Amino acid sequence: MRRKIVAGNWKMNKTLSQGHILVDEILSLTNVSTDILKIIAPPFIHLASVSEQLSSRTDFAVAAQDCHHINSGAYTGEVSAEMIASSGAKFVIIGHSERRLYAAENNELLAQKVNIALANNLSPIFCIGENSDERNANIHLEAVRTQIKEGLFHLSPADFNKVIIAYEPVWAIGTGLTATSHQAQGVHNFIRTEINKKYGKEISENCSILYGGSCNASNAKELFSCIDIDGGLIGGASLKSADFAAIINSY
Ligand code: 13P
Repeated sequence: MRRKIVAGNWKMNKTLSQGHILVDEILSLTNVSTDILKIIAPPFIHLASVSEQLSSRTDFAVAAQDCHHINSGAYTGEVSAEMIASSGAKFVIIGHSERRLYAAENNELLAQKVNIALANNLSPIFCIGENSDERNANIHLEAVRTQIKEGLFHLSPADFNKVIIAYEPVWAIGTGLTATSHQAQGVHNFIRTEINKKYGKEISENCSILYGGSCNASNAKELFSCIDIDGGLIGGASLKSADFAAIINSY
């Protein structure tokens, strides 16, 4: 369902007690509003505890930052979608550019992760986005098209309806170089058009497409006002309660 969403990806940051303090502060700085879904993506080890902490707020949900592509077995150190679902999380980030880069995850593997997430009633937040070389060579739209086609377009319409997309241009992540609202809206509109071609108007209009990449309290309002931008996936600014709350409250 197309919803306004502000999600915070903590990446590999925060001890458990630091995470609890951050969540308490965010809760105190934001009003209960089901208009905007707020998602917190802490490290795996904090999922159950943060889910419990947020259980009284129906406008908040928890996401994992990744999942394994197989449900169980001899995979030392890995975490399955089934385990994530049992922690209380409802979402899982799949295909973040840092996983694509540092863990060499390709679209074929990510498609399997999407399948296993859906089979365990987790909604994937599927990340796509071009790198700076692709942007400079003006092939960013093709890059993004390949990622959604190979990662998501095998899904049935009913399953695709459960997916959230996050457009995160790699050159904008953690760099302070935000895409302009014009650049971001252009790619979001392209993504929605591709979904329309594959699944039709109703499903494309239902799909929440989030922007990520140096999104902060000063630029969020303009980005979120674009017609095809349905919120943000926030990294650095989600680690500071005042900044994350300001982004939520600016929407
Ligand atoms: P920054 O907001 O730190 O650029 O990170 C974005 C991101 O990667 C969220 O998943």
